[in-house]
Amino acid sequence: MIPLMRPQVDHAELEPMIRAILESGRLTSGPTVERFESMVAAAVGARHAIATTSATTALHLALVAGGIGPGDEVLVSDFSFPATGNVVVQSGATPVFVDCRQDGFEMDCGDAQRKLTERTRAIMVVDPFGQPAPMAAAQSIARRAGLLLIEDAACALGATVDGVPCGGWEGAGCFSFHPRKILTTGEGGMLTTSDDRLLERAALLRSHGGVPGGIAMEFVENGYNYRMSEIQAALGVVQMMRLDAIVRDRRATAAAYLERIDGIGGVSVPLSTAAENCTFQSFVVLLDEAIDRDGVVRDLRAEGIEATLGTYAMHAQPAFARFGYRPGDLPHSWRAQRQAVTLPLLPGMAEEMLDRVVARFGAAVERRSAA
Ligand SMILES: Cc1ncc(COP(=O)(O)O)c(C=O)c1O
Repeated sequence: MIPLMRPQVDHAELEPMIRAILESGRLTSGPTVERFESMVAAAVGARHAIATTSATTALHLALVAGGIGPGDEVLVSDFSFPATGNVVVQSGATPVFVDCRQDGFEMDCGDAQRKLTERTRAIMVVDPFGQPAPMAAAQSIARRAGLLLIEDAACALGATVDGVPCGGWEGAGCFSFHPRKILTTGEGGMLTTSDDRLLERAALLRSHGGVPGGIAMEFVENGYNYRMSEIQAALGVVQMMRLDAIVRDRRATAAAYLERIDGIGGVSVPLSTAAENCTFQSFVVLLDEAIDRDGVVRDLRAEGIEATLGTYAMHAQPAFARFGYRPGDLPHSWRAQRQAVTLPLLPGMAEEMLDRVVARFGAAVERRSAA
C-alpha cells in the first residue's frame, strides 16, 4: 500500500538525545521541551511558544486562556477536522460555523462577518491542509469586533501568508505534531503567541493551574495536564533542524502533482495562495459533482493506493446537530466534504510512485464519471 504519509525522523541525531534524556532522569517539562518551544517560536516569528499534548489541547488552551466560555459564540471554519469545533464546545462556548469560499477550502471572511453577533468573542481560522487562511482579513474582523483571533495552523508549520508565517499572527497559533503533520512527535502540539498575558494564562492552565507556594504548589485555577514530554520534544527538535528542507520537499512534490493533474478533466486543485506559501500537509483535489468521489477512493484503495476524503464539513457531523445545523446548510464546505480527495504525498516521493498514483487516479476518475 502506498500510504498517505510516512513520518521521517533522523535516528542518528535522535538516539543520543533520547539517551541523554533517559540518563538525566528528567523525562518531562525540561530543557528539550524549552528548546523545541524556542525553535518553533523563532520559526513562526512569535515571542512565545508552549508545547502541549496535541493541537486539540493547544486550541482548547488558547480558548480557555483567552477567557472564552459559556454564553460566548466562537466563529469557526466549518471545513476542518472536528477537533476544531469540539474544543469550542469543551470550553462551554457555542460554535458558529463559517463556510469556506466557493472556489477554495479556506474560510470565507464575508460569511464570518455576516455571522458576528454581540455574543461573538473569538474567531478560529483554519489553514486547510497547510494552505494559509486569509489571516489579514480575519485579523481585521477580530480587531474591529474585539475578538480573540486563534489560527488553527495544525497543518501549516512552515507556511506563510502576506509575508507573515502561519502561527505568527495576533492572538494564538496552534500546531499539531500528529504523524500525518509536517513534523511529528507521535502526538503533540504547540501554542504560539506574542501576547504575554495569553502566554501566562496558557502556561498556568497547561500544568494544573498551580503556582509555586512555600514547599509545595498552590492551585489557583482548575487547570489541565497538557504538558509535552522530553522524549516527544527530542523528536520535534531533530525535525525542526530540517524544517525548511521538509517543506521544500513537500512543495516540490506538490508542484509535480499539479503539473500532472492539470490534464485530468473534472478535477481541480483549489489553492488559497501561491503554492510556494503552502506546506501541502495533504495534497487535496476537488472533483466535479458528476464524479463519484467515494468510488474513486475505493478504486484507489483496491489498487494499493491509500486515499481518503479531504476533511469534514463539521456542521454536517451528528456531534454538532444540536447547534441547529443540517447537512448542506454551509454549501461550499458541504461540497468539499463530499467531493474532495486526499492523495498520498510522502517525503522524498519517487517520480515513478507519483506517476503511478496519478495514472491510477486519472483512470478511476474516468471510470467514475457520469456518462
Ligand atoms: C485542522 C486541524 N486542527 C486540529 C487537528 C487536531 O490535531 P491533533 O491530532 O494534534 O489534536 C487536526 C488533526 O488532524 C487538524 O487537521
